[in-house]
Amino acid sequence: PTGLSDWPYPYWIAHRGAGKERPENTLCAFEHGSACGFSMFECDVKLSADGVPFLLHDDTLERTTNGRGPADALPWAELAQLDAGGWHSSNSAGEPLPTLATIAAHCLQQGAALNIEIKPMPGQEAATGSAVALAARALWQGQRVPPLLSSFQPAALQAAQQAAPELPRALLLDTLWSGWPEVAAQLGCVAIVCQHRLPDAALMQQARAMGWRVLCYTANRAADVQRLRALGVDGLITDEMHWARSQNLD
Ligand code: G3P
Ligand code: MG
Repeated sequence: PTGLSDWPYPYWIAHRGAGKERPENTLCAFEHGSACGFSMFECDVKLSADGVPFLLHDDTLERTTNGRGPADALPWAELAQLDAGGWHSSNSAGEPLPTLATIAAHCLQQGAALNIEIKPMPGQEAATGSAVALAARALWQGQRVPPLLSSFQPAALQAAQQAAPELPRALLLDTLWSGWPEVAAQLGCVAIVCQHRLPDAALMQQARAMGWRVLCYTANRAADVQRLRALGVDGLITDEMHWARSQNLD
């Protein structure tokens, strides 16, 4: 088995910082998620034109910033000037895009864990996997709980594995595509992170036999949470901040 023998991560993971209650993937979202009681977060990370790891979900700037065009066309100094909060609410206007370093500092100061989803621009899978893994290694140096690196892109995880093999990796699955177990095994994954409709008893058994933990995204509705808890999944990524307010987070 390749799994971490002692799973160090909490059960509830706040999606993109604070789900939909704050502008996704910004520091104010993480601050809100922490205030809601979360001690683990998921975020999406890609590289600026000059190779700085920063948080953004989409391949383009339009939806969640006042910028335009591909996310990797601008150097960090220009990305840092954009408003990544005004699209969400007037209260959040002026909220900047954060670097991975800014979010690492917040998590470490809060004693919170981080799931870094490596979200490369098309064609940048290996470069992003490698740069994010090296940055994560440096930012979490000497910490007891390392960040969990995940990606839908095996090439990104492979580059992360080569750059910083000691950092735990998880394969993201939106479908159970042919050959995924072999790929997860080759990548030395400690976990799989599945779209929430995928897990059933057979998948749980298969994952357990391989030594993989099973996490799910994005579990928002009570019925889904109940079913996934009954199956025995190891963690849930959620947009709904009330899960932290109303439930035992561990
Ligand atoms: O990392 C889990 C989840 O965030 C994957 O989907 O599109 O929200 O990044 P997405
Ligand atoms: Mg994500």
